[in-house]
Amino acid sequence: MAPSVADLETPSTVDVIANLKQEVKEKKGPSYPFYYPQFDLNEKFSRIEPFESTDPGSRADPAKPHLLTANTTTHDLSPYLGTEVTGVQISQLTSEGLDELALYTAERKVLIFRDQDFKDLSPERQIEIASHFGPIHKHPTSGNVKGFPEFHVVYRDAEHDEIREYIGLDRASLLSWHSDVSYERQTPGTTFFFILDQPDNGGGGDTLFLSQVEAYRRLSPEFQKRLEGLRAVHSGVAQADNSRKRGGPVRREPIESEHPVVRVHPVTGEKALYVNPGFTRRIVGYKTEESEYLLKFLFDHIAKGSDFQVRGTYKPGTVVVWDNRVTCHSATLDFDNVLRRHAVRLTPQAEVPIAG
Ligand SMILES: [Fe+2]
Repeated sequence: MAPSVADLETPSTVDVIANLKQEVKEKKGPSYPFYYPQFDLNEKFSRIEPFESTDPGSRADPAKPHLLTANTTTHDLSPYLGTEVTGVQISQLTSEGLDELALYTAERKVLIFRDQDFKDLSPERQIEIASHFGPIHKHPTSGNVKGFPEFHVVYRDAEHDEIREYIGLDRASLLSWHSDVSYERQTPGTTFFFILDQPDNGGGGDTLFLSQVEAYRRLSPEFQKRLEGLRAVHSGVAQADNSRKRGGPVRREPIESEHPVVRVHPVTGEKALYVNPGFTRRIVGYKTEESEYLLKFLFDHIAKGSDFQVRGTYKPGTVVVWDNRVTCHSATLDFDNVLRRHAVRLTPQAEVPIAG
């Protein structure tokens, strides 16, 4: 019997996508189950003690012969920040190479390394590499890994969408510009982020980055003068409250720190804005309305700066390294939450911010 017309019809694009989502949903679990996030309510950390910090970039050869070899290709994403690097294997870098990585990250703000074996190293080795840049921050509320609280796990799938809940379900835009844990006294420097599962090509889940150096440079000399000497309060309280409200852990009581509104990078000497809507709450010494007015201007200024922002994209094996002192970033929650996105951050802490 001849096939009916219905049998001959090719499936519509809608059907193909629906089938794909179903496949992802039915997939047994993450590709790297070791890094599946845990939220142990009994886990507690002591307060972070002050420590001496020397940025490895200060020891680096400016020519970077141990990092950028004849095999390396670099592609700048914009004049101000972001470089895609191929032909470098982070796991193979010598101590000198890691120093140069710190300097190159400070200079370019964000580096995107492709085809890395980093995700397949042992957790001890991953932590060892990141520890070259400073003691690893242990996050007070986020998902981590049993026995390895250094890993800050970013995980989202059909059943886990805490980040969207944290940002606010009623918001028109889910962007959330921030510099990681800027409420700490010694804030993060060279920061590592490796992807384990991501939506397929074009499926979303990129990270937006902006240069706080260029954001500062765009301001008039008169306005720059007004900012210099100002300090702002960065607070971890809302993050902790949110975790408590969800029944999540608060492993260390939240703190607030005062940081300069303009900070200087210890190696490049570049001045950068250091405020972000994620954690910066008020300008020290200003009345409430004055503080709100100034911070609103600065938050709008950085968020609107599409000409000093780039998108970090992910492929299997991508490791993104950024300097949290001179950048802000935001996740893009543009992908269907049926899809899985799984990544891990290692966040070395650096110096107490130096006033600009
Ligand atoms: Fe972040």
